[in-house]
Amino acid sequence: MIPHVLPTYNRADLAFERGEGCWAISTDGTRYLDLGAGIAVNALGHANPELVAALTEQAGRIWHVSNLYHIPEQERLADLLVEHTFADTAFLTNSGTEAAELAIKMVRKFWAEEGDADRYEILTFEGAFHGRSTGAIAAAGSEKMVKGFGPLMPGFRQLPWGDMEAIKAAITERTAAVMIEPIQGEGGIRPLADADLRLIRELCDATGALLVLDEVQCGMGRTGKLFAHEYAGITPDIMMVAKGIGGGFPLGAVLATEKAAAGMVAGTHGSTYGGNPLACAVGAKVMEIIAAPEFLAEVNRKAGLFRQKLEALVAAHPDVFEGVRGQGLMIGLKCLVAPGDLVKAGYAEHILTVPAADATLRLLPPLNISDADIAEAVARLDRAAARLEA
Ligand SMILES: Cc1ncc(COP(=O)(O)O)c(C=O)c1O
Repeated sequence: MIPHVLPTYNRADLAFERGEGCWAISTDGTRYLDLGAGIAVNALGHANPELVAALTEQAGRIWHVSNLYHIPEQERLADLLVEHTFADTAFLTNSGTEAAELAIKMVRKFWAEEGDADRYEILTFEGAFHGRSTGAIAAAGSEKMVKGFGPLMPGFRQLPWGDMEAIKAAITERTAAVMIEPIQGEGGIRPLADADLRLIRELCDATGALLVLDEVQCGMGRTGKLFAHEYAGITPDIMMVAKGIGGGFPLGAVLATEKAAAGMVAGTHGSTYGGNPLACAVGAKVMEIIAAPEFLAEVNRKAGLFRQKLEALVAAHPDVFEGVRGQGLMIGLKCLVAPGDLVKAGYAEHILTVPAADATLRLLPPLNISDADIAEAVARLDRAAARLEA
């Protein structure tokens, strides 16, 4: 008999009833060190007092109003996003997938407004993940995600990851946009070199193609900058944000320049819940905290400490790990064993991690993880690795 919850996930036999900072407490009372953070979502840890206060204060005033009216909390969050980024405007969504959908629509609308509606091809990349909607699976194009869901939405062409020659050969004055994660998350914490991102920006400028960055996983302070593309010193035309921006409350955003967003006039897009007061009250608090330079400096300091300890861990387990990669607290441990086996060994050591493609174990802890929890995490990973060696 089919479970009452549609069985689209292979779930671990674990359930959590509470959280405190980097710790998730299971229904049997066991404390797990949470290095997955809901896959880069709980950016400020579980039950963060400032976020709980922002949410409950808002909950006592008004939960939901339609986008038929002005929503002050939404305007405040949009102001913060515009103030701290390249963007001139923001649309608030409930998820990263919805942000991907709008980004795709915005690209198409941009070219339609330019009188060139046939210019719709978006270059995307192997190993990419942009969500599970029909548009987002067509964009990423992975066999695993699209199988059985055809016919796929047309207009995407996948290129090999990190192959600049392939991009140079593919991009033309008929290319509508390039859509890329500065660091692939689901694809295995695979960073694009800063020089390569700069080259992609140059190729877009030369051909007129829009640059769409998917910073759903790598954005919101995860890499030690507010957004990962800042390392390359470039800006996109459109950017997708989600996960960390809500700190655990469902929230996403599409940020865009005035030029890229020019076609998105009244009636071209909408959402019942997108930009809801509860979500935006939390999102604005998250932005206030994460965008502070002192906070980002701490993320970088902690990332350095973590990295140093992980390099030692890798060296101590040469049959389990191959290396460490990523940026800031978006960490990938390239494995010589199946990452899923390490995740399971981690459960036995009461630590939560997340597998990714390309034989990679992901560590995406809350950005405010303490030094003591970093040390504890490495000790538990060390014991988990030893379990696999045994
Ligand atoms: C880079 C990237 N884009 C888009 C998405 C989709 O976001 P959501 O699951 O919130 O719809 C994800 C989710 O993992 C992601 O990592």
